[in-house]
Amino acid sequence: MKKGYFITFEGPDGAGKTTQIDLLSDYFKSQGYDVVLTREPGGTELGEKIRQVIFEPGKQGMAPEAEVLLYAASRAQHIKEVIAPNLLAGNVVISDRFIDSSIAYQGFGRGMLDYVELVNNYITKDFMPDLTFLFKLDPQIAKERVSFKKQKIKPESKEFYETAMKGYEYLEKKYPDRICSIDASMAIDEITYRIIKAASQKMFGC
Ligand SMILES: Nc1ncnc2c1ncn2[C@@H]1O[C@H](COP(=O)(O)OP(=O)(O)OP(=O)(O)O)[C@@H](O)[C@H]1O
Ligand SMILES: [Mg+2]
Repeated sequence: MKKGYFITFEGPDGAGKTTQIDLLSDYFKSQGYDVVLTREPGGTELGEKIRQVIFEPGKQGMAPEAEVLLYAASRAQHIKEVIAPNLLAGNVVISDRFIDSSIAYQGFGRGMLDYVELVNNYITKDFMPDLTFLFKLDPQIAKERVSFKKQKIKPESKEFYETAMKGYEYLEKKYPDRICSIDASMAIDEITYRIIKAASQKMFGC
């Protein structure tokens, strides 16, 4: 039986996920928890190799159906090697992106929702997050926060990102108990305060 606690962070690139993951991790550690920080795609040796394939500069012509399976392959390995054992050991696992990114970007962005749900629901059925923080910020504004060096070499179209954000809205409605939406335009310390409060309420009921 799973004893730990699984938290994921979602939202556009540059919304402030990594900033808040680090701050939430510091908080849990100060409370005496063992915290595992991880990310998708990636989080394992195989997953990091898959990440390189997905984000390879100049990559062209990958079938969207193949891209879905690469993300899913990374996730399956991630659950087996990192998420499942740490949750069974009673640790707090915080992942920078998880299944919701696939639903939003591939399911909605690429118009393959049934396929993405079918593949991913099979993989994640016993390991859905206990709590997900969804950072809401216009993708263009979020992008401006990211240094030029870190920006995607070949970004997708504006329409793609807008459709993906509709995917996140679909998930918010589908999982109101799991997904906690955050207005990511707020100041960093205000967001941290809300995140710690929401995580404490969910985990300890206070
Ligand atoms: N609430 C905030 N207000 C303004 N700037 C912020 C806020 N949170 C983070 N930032 C800054 O925005 C930039 C992007 O933040 P961060 O790397 O945490 O985002 P991210 O969601 O992890 O992005 P990516 O998806 O690219 O990894 C950083 O320079 C960070 O200092
Ligand atoms: Mg980040």
